[in-house]
Amino acid sequence: MSLLRAHNLRKDYGGVRAVADMSFAVDAGDMVALIGPNGAGKSTCFGILNGQVRPDAGQVLFDGIDITAWPARRVARLGIGRSFQIAQTFGSMSVRENIQMALIARRGFVWRFIGPARALFVEPADALLAQVGLEHVGDRACATLAYGDLKRLELAVALANQPRLLLMDEPTAGMAAADRVDLMTLVRRIAREQRCAVLFTEHDMDIVFAVADRIMVMDRGLLIAEGDAATVRANPAVRAAYLGEDDAT
Ligand SMILES: Nc1ncnc2c1ncn2[C@@H]1O[C@H](COP(=O)(O)OP(=O)(O)OP(=O)(O)O)[C@@H](O)[C@H]1O
Ligand SMILES: [Mg+2]
Repeated sequence: MSLLRAHNLRKDYGGVRAVADMSFAVDAGDMVALIGPNGAGKSTCFGILNGQVRPDAGQVLFDGIDITAWPARRVARLGIGRSFQIAQTFGSMSVRENIQMALIARRGFVWRFIGPARALFVEPADALLAQVGLEHVGDRACATLAYGDLKRLELAVALANQPRLLLMDEPTAGMAAADRVDLMTLVRRIAREQRCAVLFTEHDMDIVFAVADRIMVMDRGLLIAEGDAATVRANPAVRAAYLGEDDAT
């Protein structure tokens, strides 16, 4: 049984059909890229999956449970994480404290009630920092991190919730090219080690082809192709809708 199943998802914004009819599945531990031109409906899809967008039609099943239109917090608790929301890190706190906070929140505590919370979850926090290669900056204020390291911290914060599926919407946006490949290679390694599935969007085809096990191509709210890099690259509809943009330049 697939970990995630989406059936006939649809979402309209006024007259705009953002997602027309999307059905797909993601298996445990799968690293899947969702690609497509600007406005294809990728972010809307992600929003439906994690409960931030209510679909007009369709169904989302996670681990066999119908989670359609569940509130985002409940979806997160069940094991669907959404990473790389910069606002979720706290600049004045240390890197380690940001992770500790995520670990504390997962157990239902509230940071301000804890008082001297610095002693809680230090070891698991350091283990997560080491996992993403940030063990050397644990004591630094978040605000002083280089952009690439902030992205790694966001990954660690997402992993603190022990997701079984991680949704990553353009996780490498704004990063230098070399750092982008490094980050996604790290994500893939961690996903395999923890058997956490990853569904990500990415506009850089080199990264997509390098790290994705499987690629789904969306255009105008529809899934137009699906498969490994070679299959997708060779698909005429994909070339016309998406890769064709490059040919024209
Ligand atoms: N909250 C919203 N209100 C109105 N229209 C929206 C909203 N969100 C998305 N849309 C529209 O729905 C369509 C799909 O948008 P979406 O952001 O899902 O595409 P995308 O594939 O993520 O694009 P990009 O690659 O640019 O991030 C677009 O036409 C967009 O303008
Ligand atoms: Mg988007």
